Amino acid sequence: MEELRKNNEKEFFYQVFKSKSRQHMSKFYKITNCSRKYYEKYLFSNCCDKKVLEYGCGTGSYAFNLAKHGATVLGIDISEIGIKMAKVKSKKTNLKNVSFLVMDAESLQIEDNFFDIICGSGILHHLNLNKSLNEIVRVLKPNGKAIFIEPLGLNPFINFYRYLTPAMRTKNEHPLKTKDLKLIKNYFSHVNYKFFHLSSLLAVPFCNYRKFSSMLILLDKFDQKLFRYIPFIKLMSWQVVITLKEPIKSF
Ligand SMILES: C[S@@+](CC[C@H](N)C(=O)[O-])C[C@H]1O[C@@H](n2cnc3c(N)ncnc32)[C@H](O)[C@@H]1O
Repeated sequence: MEELRKNNEKEFFYQVFKSKSRQHMSKFYKITNCSRKYYEKYLFSNCCDKKVLEYGCGTGSYAFNLAKHGATVLGIDISEIGIKMAKVKSKKTNLKNVSFLVMDAESLQIEDNFFDIICGSGILHHLNLNKSLNEIVRVLKPNGKAIFIEPLGLNPFINFYRYLTPAMRTKNEHPLKTKDLKLIKNYFSHVNYKFFHLSSLLAVPFCNYRKFSSMLILLDKFDQKLFRYIPFIKLMSWQVVITLKEPIKSF
């Protein structure tokens, strides 16, 4: 069962990385500027001279930028083709402080208390959360930090769109629900969730318009105000940035 799930993931991303077939999703990702900026700001301001693990790095993702910001980075992914492409890019960049390995995120071949920072974008919702959080807590130093950017699975309209477009996702991925957000709190003493993209989803059809950027900035600001005044609405948003400190080692 577990092997089947992992093979499905490998097969799906083999096709994606080979054909770049995720291009059709890019119009949605055009609205993610402010969540990505938040994620990047946290990562790049904390990573210098640190050992960083990029969890589920695909074809390289943030690993190169982290290395440029002075981190020593290991990117791991279960996809052989993803890691092969990351290694090819790595040769071209000439960066000495970044490496990539094919590895299962739920069973890391890494010693305990090794990394200062673990990060990942769009990875936790592809994994068995209990297994992966156990591994994250194990390989993170006691004073280490982790940060993830993940989709949420609580908005019925977004879920209906997902239902209509199953080919865009793997069978087993599970955008995070309330129970997952609660579960994460069992593994870290300090957990922060920052939510993004609710009204800003309305900007998607206008991504090729001249005023798109200013429209997006306004909608992003509106979202943050909305979440402040009506807090439960944030659970309807599309993405969450999860920052974690103080891993609970005894778990
Ligand atoms: C949505 S992609 C994100 C890739 C990358 N983080 C990015 O933002 O471009 C999800 C990644 O999870 C990887 N993955 C799925 N299951 C995995 C596992 N058990 N261990 C490691 N990586 C896994 C897939 O191969 C894929 O590269």
